[in-house]
Amino acid sequence: MRFVLCVTGASGTPYAVRLFEVLKELGHELELVVSEHARLVHERELGRDLLKELKGARLHDEKNMASPLASGSTLIKYDAVFIVPCSTSTLAHLAHGTNANLIHRIGETALKERVPLVLLVREMPYSEVHLKNMLTLVRAGAAVLPASPAFYHGPKTLQDMIDFVVGKLLDAVRVEHHLYKRWSG
Ligand SMILES: Cc1cc2nc3c(=O)[nH]c(=O)nc-3n(C[C@H](O)[C@H](O)[C@H](O)COP(=O)(O)O)c2cc1C
Repeated sequence: MRFVLCVTGASGTPYAVRLFEVLKELGHELELVVSEHARLVHERELGRDLLKELKGARLHDEKNMASPLASGSTLIKYDAVFIVPCSTSTLAHLAHGTNANLIHRIGETALKERVPLVLLVREMPYSEVHLKNMLTLVRAGAAVLPASPAFYHGPKTLQDMIDFVVGKLLDAVRVEHHLYKRWSG
C-alpha cells in the first residue's frame, strides 16, 4: 500500500517515528512531509534531529505547494494520509480549508478526493475551538484520534504505550499489525 505521512509540531513526534518504522517494516511505500515546527519540537523534547530518524522515504518540502502531493490527481493514488501528530494549528487550517503549507493542502485534497485522512491530535485540555474543529473534520470524513494510550493491554514500557497508539492509527486504515494485544473479553 502507499501512504503519505505528514508530521506537525505537536508534542508526540515519537508516534510519527514509530508509525514510519512500522509502515516501512511492513513493506508499504511512504511519502513524507515534516513541518518546521515538528523538527523544532522533536529537537526540544528529545534533543535529536527528526529527519535523521525518518530516513528512507521521499521527503517533500512543506513550503512546496507545487509538489505532486498537492494535486488530487496524484493523491488519489495513495491509500491514506496520516497527520501524526497533528497540532491544533494544523487542525484549525484543515477545519477551515486554509492552506499555509503543503501539509494543509494535502489534508484539504484528501478530504475533497475522499482519500482516508487520519489525524492524531495532541493537546490537553481541549478548548471549544479544538472540539469544534475536530467535529467539523469528522463530519467531513476524517478519522480523528486523540494521542491517548490505553491501559487494558497491560503496557510495561513507554514503547508499549506508543505502539498502542500507532496500532490504533493502523486500525483506522485497516492495516494488519501486532502492535498491541486486542481486548478479547
Ligand atoms: C516544545 C513544544 C511543544 C508543543 N506541543 C504542542 C502540542 O502538544 N500540541 C499543539 O497543538 N501544539 C504544540 N506546540 C505548538 C506548535 O508547535 C505550534 O502551534 C506550531 O505553530 C505548529 O505548527 P505546524 O502545525 O505547522 O507544525 C508545541 C510547541 C513547542 C515548542
